[in-house]
Amino acid sequence: MERVLIQDVSQYVGQRVKIMGWVNVRRDQGKLIFLDFRDATAIVQGVILPGSDAMEMGKLLREEFVVAVEGNINERPERNRKEGVVNGSVELEILGIEILNTADVLPFPIDNTEDVNELARLKYRYLDLRSDRMQKNIRKRHEVLRFVRKFFDQERFIEVETPYLTKSTPEGSRDYIVPSRLDKGKFYALPQSPQQYKQLLMTAGMERYFQIARCFRDEDTRGDRQPEFTQIDVEMSFATQEEIMQINEELMIKMVAEVYPEKRIQQVPFPRLSYKEAMEKYGNDKPDIREDKNDPNLLAFCWVVDFPFFEKTDADEWTFTHNPFSAPVPGDIEKLINKQDVENIVAAQYDMALNGYEIGGGGIRNHKPETLKAVFEIMGYSKERIEANFHHMLQAFSLGTPPHGGIAFGFDRLMMILQNEPNIREVIPFAKTGEGRDPMMESPSEVDEKQLGELGIKLK
Ligand code: AMO
Repeated sequence: MERVLIQDVSQYVGQRVKIMGWVNVRRDQGKLIFLDFRDATAIVQGVILPGSDAMEMGKLLREEFVVAVEGNINERPERNRKEGVVNGSVELEILGIEILNTADVLPFPIDNTEDVNELARLKYRYLDLRSDRMQKNIRKRHEVLRFVRKFFDQERFIEVETPYLTKSTPEGSRDYIVPSRLDKGKFYALPQSPQQYKQLLMTAGMERYFQIARCFRDEDTRGDRQPEFTQIDVEMSFATQEEIMQINEELMIKMVAEVYPEKRIQQVPFPRLSYKEAMEKYGNDKPDIREDKNDPNLLAFCWVVDFPFFEKTDADEWTFTHNPFSAPVPGDIEKLINKQDVENIVAAQYDMALNGYEIGGGGIRNHKPETLKAVFEIMGYSKERIEANFHHMLQAFSLGTPPHGGIAFGFDRLMMILQNEPNIREVIPFAKTGEGRDPMMESPSEVDEKQLGELGIKLK
């Protein structure tokens, strides 16, 4: 007999069906056994009636056993109906049970894992993910990504993958590095973002790129930060700052309308604040502008623009506030080239904030070698250092790179807010602890001497 999905069983009233899934709840009343079954689609209540051939098997079942069950779909008596609940009006009269796998007693109940110790949840993540809330979070991630892919495809963007084994990018964070076996003493870096590759794809004539990209940053983990996280990464050629902001604003508006119709966006078009206004009015550059902070369905998007390009380090040197590849706003290009009035150079940089979190940031880039070089010179980089680190970018910019710009959204942060979760670990399938560990895989872990030897590495 062919398997029927549990979400569809109510279409089979009066017929015999076969379902497959987990024993969700078991209530043995002696003469009767009630069993709820769960698959990825829904739950159905089953019952083994007195005298049924399935009674003996039914006695053996425990919660979270994996089973194939055959039975008749019957209408529930009026008084037992649950309105508005999937399968609330039907019941499965169990006739036959096959145990596909057993399950030991679980380390924690999975009906509501929110209050379970988080270390245990991460250690048994595959169980935690069985819970209704986590299933929803992960499935919504998929729905949002499906929308994003459709949206960009319709707008003539193509999804291009860029390497994970790459070279250190100065994006303000510490790199994860990977030793090379063939080139001993040398290291790859895992990308903090695909920034340089996406710009080089513009040189390569792709014109409109996006990628659901994993990024790696060796920084202290917080509620809205993980060592590896996902960006919706975007870059466009021949587009103005205004056009890039428009299209990404449209992405958010349409995504919310389609995937979260119950939510309301506070203001469209998204309000725009200058960095200065945001700091003066809200004391930070990712302002929470919600009118009502108790409303779980209110989304208050806003843009923050006009960031200073440079700020002073503790050592009294200039450094970039966002990333070195940004261009100044058109009116400040002369200042950059002439290295004058550096503190007042404004970057063509825009961040998107949502309910008090920075969910995205981007900018128009320098696409000429002189302007990129000027950025590094203002920061005091020597000619040699510029050559060693950025030769490939400068060369590409001298070989016909179009004007371009883009943005990257922090996808996990976006999902955290959309799902009303308190931190991004709740929306990341296999998240890491605050110390960057994965208690399930027990990583990071030691490796054996032989592996280290092959890499030419000796531990101190
Ligand atoms: P930025 O560094 O601002 O820009 O990153 C873009 C967005 O990524 C999210 N984010 C993170 N999310 C989870 N964990 C982290 N550790 C983490 N770090 C950042 C934030 C942030 O807004 N290449 C540029 C983008 C561009 O200019 O196009 C970049 O990576 O939501």
